[in-house]
Amino acid sequence: MADTKKIAVIAGDGIGPEVVAEAIKVMKKTEELYGLSFEFEHGLFGGIAIDEKGTPLPQETLDMCKAADAVLLGAVGGPKWDNNPKELRPETGLLGIRKALGLFSNIRPAKIFDCLKDASTLKPEVLEGTDLIVVRELTGGIYFGDKFRREGANGEEAVDTCVYNVHEVERIVRQAFEIARTRRKKLASVDKANVLETSRLWREVVNRIAPEYPDVELEHVLVDNCAMQLLRRPASFDVIVTENMFGDILSDEAAMLTGSIGMLSSASLGEGAFGLYEPVHGSAPDIAGQGIANPIATILSVALMYRLTFGYHEAAQSIEDAVASVLDAGHRTADIATDRSKAVGTQQMGDLIVAAMK
Ligand code: NAI
Ligand code: MG
Repeated sequence: MADTKKIAVIAGDGIGPEVVAEAIKVMKKTEELYGLSFEFEHGLFGGIAIDEKGTPLPQETLDMCKAADAVLLGAVGGPKWDNNPKELRPETGLLGIRKALGLFSNIRPAKIFDCLKDASTLKPEVLEGTDLIVVRELTGGIYFGDKFRREGANGEEAVDTCVYNVHEVERIVRQAFEIARTRRKKLASVDKANVLETSRLWREVVNRIAPEYPDVELEHVLVDNCAMQLLRRPASFDVIVTENMFGDILSDEAAMLTGSIGMLSSASLGEGAFGLYEPVHGSAPDIAGQGIANPIATILSVALMYRLTFGYHEAAQSIEDAVASVLDAGHRTADIATDRSKAVGTQQMGDLIVAAMK
């Protein structure tokens, strides 16, 4: 029996609670199958927390997350809170929790399920075998540098500054090498070192750390080239590590290789393998409460948690294989169904996946 791991569950709004419930079912099944042990604690977060506690991120929820080994998040937000002042908006809670938990990287896998290849806008033969992860730095770069307006020689100017320090680069690059080590052992470091000083520093740090990982094959790719190669040869990438803004753009590009938002998992990691796991999608108010949301993004986020935070690779594989086999058998939620009249609901999809786990 493995040590009991504490999971902070913040299901949030809209379809959040619906998809999180299915992910928890899957986790309970892995307790049975693999002798794992979890203690689930639930906290209010997002719009529901605004309604009940007057703030999107109540202190007790934050404390609960800090005391946990990992956080499982559904999604937050909805039209009800859209016109609230900033401090009473669910998205403010999202930024707040990432900061308070010291999360500095965002991990987004893009993996093709063979039977869904046709759903992508790319040719199936280009996509064949695509299974990559984008590791994006979250705390630095141009999004967080000084920004200001000034009067220039030709009138008003705007300035955004991009700053990275060695420590910020080192910790994320090490994390990416470690992740590559658990996979196909290939790392692409993406920068714009032909133009940007922050990129030159980035590349220096990568080259300095690389000898510690002789088993990982490293390539440096310029960001514009990477954007092209993702469409030309997506299957050749394993782990891609890059700074904040490049990662923002490339992770969205990579996500669209696979097609459906209801299938995309993500993680945000801090020091010591602590992580927050959530689907890429939002609270989908348009379908909330109907029991038709696709729970697979959240279920695959659990597999990611098992791999990245706990090193439970076997149990993670079992979840991923079960998802693939259920899809292969032709079961689809409405968002990925070609014939919507045959679509299964959220709970049924969760049950099918649980039943397929070995
Ligand atoms: P969304 O991802 O919630 O929905 C976009 C479209 O995809 C909708 O048509 C929705 O029905 C569909 N969709 C999303 N997830 C699905 C699933 N699991 N199964 C089936 N269909 C799914 O993005 P949108 O509409 O822009 O935002 C809705 C709310 O969610 C907003 O309040 C937004 O701020 C919030 N949001 C929250 C995020 C988070 O909690 N991390 C991330 C993105 C948006
Ligand atoms: Mg983006």
